[in-house]
Amino acid sequence: MEKSIQGIRGFNDILPEASPAWRFVETTLREILESYGYEEIRLPAVEKTALFARTIGEVTDIVEKEMYTFADRNGENVALRPEGTAGCVRACIQHGLLHKRQPRVWYGGAMFRYERPQKGRYRQFHQIGAEAFGTPGPDIDAEMILMTGRMLRSLGLDDLKLQINSLGTPASRPAYRERLINYFRHHYELLDEDARRRLATNPLRILDSKNPSMQPLIAEAPSILEHLDEASRAHIEQIGAILTTAGVTYILNPCLVRGLDYYTRTVFEWTSDRLGAQGTVCAGGRYDGLVEQIGGPPTTPAIGFAAGIERLVALIAESGHVPPIPAPHAYLVVVGEEAVVPAYRLAETLRDRLPRLRLQVNSGGGSFKNQFKRADRSGARYALILAAEEVTAARVSVKDLRRDAAQGSLSEAELTALLTSCIAG
Ligand code: HAM
Repeated sequence: MEKSIQGIRGFNDILPEASPAWRFVETTLREILESYGYEEIRLPAVEKTALFARTIGEVTDIVEKEMYTFADRNGENVALRPEGTAGCVRACIQHGLLHKRQPRVWYGGAMFRYERPQKGRYRQFHQIGAEAFGTPGPDIDAEMILMTGRMLRSLGLDDLKLQINSLGTPASRPAYRERLINYFRHHYELLDEDARRRLATNPLRILDSKNPSMQPLIAEAPSILEHLDEASRAHIEQIGAILTTAGVTYILNPCLVRGLDYYTRTVFEWTSDRLGAQGTVCAGGRYDGLVEQIGGPPTTPAIGFAAGIERLVALIAESGHVPPIPAPHAYLVVVGEEAVVPAYRLAETLRDRLPRLRLQVNSGGGSFKNQFKRADRSGARYALILAAEEVTAARVSVKDLRRDAAQGSLSEAELTALLTSCIAG
């Protein structure tokens, strides 16, 4: 026999047993996004490679080494999207959404990064994200952070940490960048290989190093918060005031820099201690220059976030906060060949009458005893039994599988009434 073909490393199957948790996360997030006025936008999984290089940044890990890029059959350089913001901005510009109003959109789907797979880090993973365009003030930043906090609490996750920071503006950042480079140059012998490489390309990312031996050096580094322009300082202070008044605690972390280059001013992350190294479940920030940078209307401010669904699912699976898979209301036991055709007529009639009915029809035959066992294992409330006798009498035998009650023989009208009250709970 041929060896069976396996899935690709870092690309996961989401099995039926995990689906309730996925659905719970996706539905909860979607409902909250829509309640805050975000509309769904569906975006392609493949874009021109140049879009990501220009937005995320040429010298980020994502663009340098994590993108799935290829030349399509026509020789065009394309990439599987590593994140959703770039494509979302591209689509909003292309379809003129930014000229008309202040769109708020959300999206979901698979993203792809060629990272080393480990718990909570995959090569195909899923995000739900949102972007709000056209509002420059700290009010929308604070509201987005409050909204993400509400999402996490609604999932039963109330032990997550919120960190925020301001990266200032492109005008104020070079002076800070210079100071940081000088500081790290001064301590060059203490830098690890990665930091030495970043010193020339992306020095702010050194602050995000997870290397324990670098931490004392990073702790003493000049703080970006002390190099903010006046407007950026007021902006982050106002966010802090709104969060505090709304009862959301946060850590102002000057070392929070994020792995994408498009951010200006506000950045934020929600993290958990329960996921090991991959603890960030939801993250985002403001990107006021990006729309213009890829050809959109100048000075279109924007802010967004994305949540990692695998990480949220892992957290709620661990906390046992997952709603169970709903069991069928009824399982139809079909006894004998002559009952098969009438069984499907009965099942389809019941489904027509009761669109919310969860009915499982026994397929593939089997002894009465075996079918009854399957009915019980399905978790159904009722077993409906259809044999030649019932077909002739135009009745259905019904057994309550969860309560000790006598078996009854019902007409279709009586059965419909019984199932109606079962659906109503
Ligand atoms: P990001 O921080 O790169 O931001 O990703 C957001 C979230 O996606 C992370 O916090 C994490 O939960 C999840 N994630 C990222 N990489 C992986 C992976 N390899 N495996 C599993 N989960 C992962 C963005 O993508 C930005 N587009 C967010 C944003 C929207 N900023 C503004 N608007």
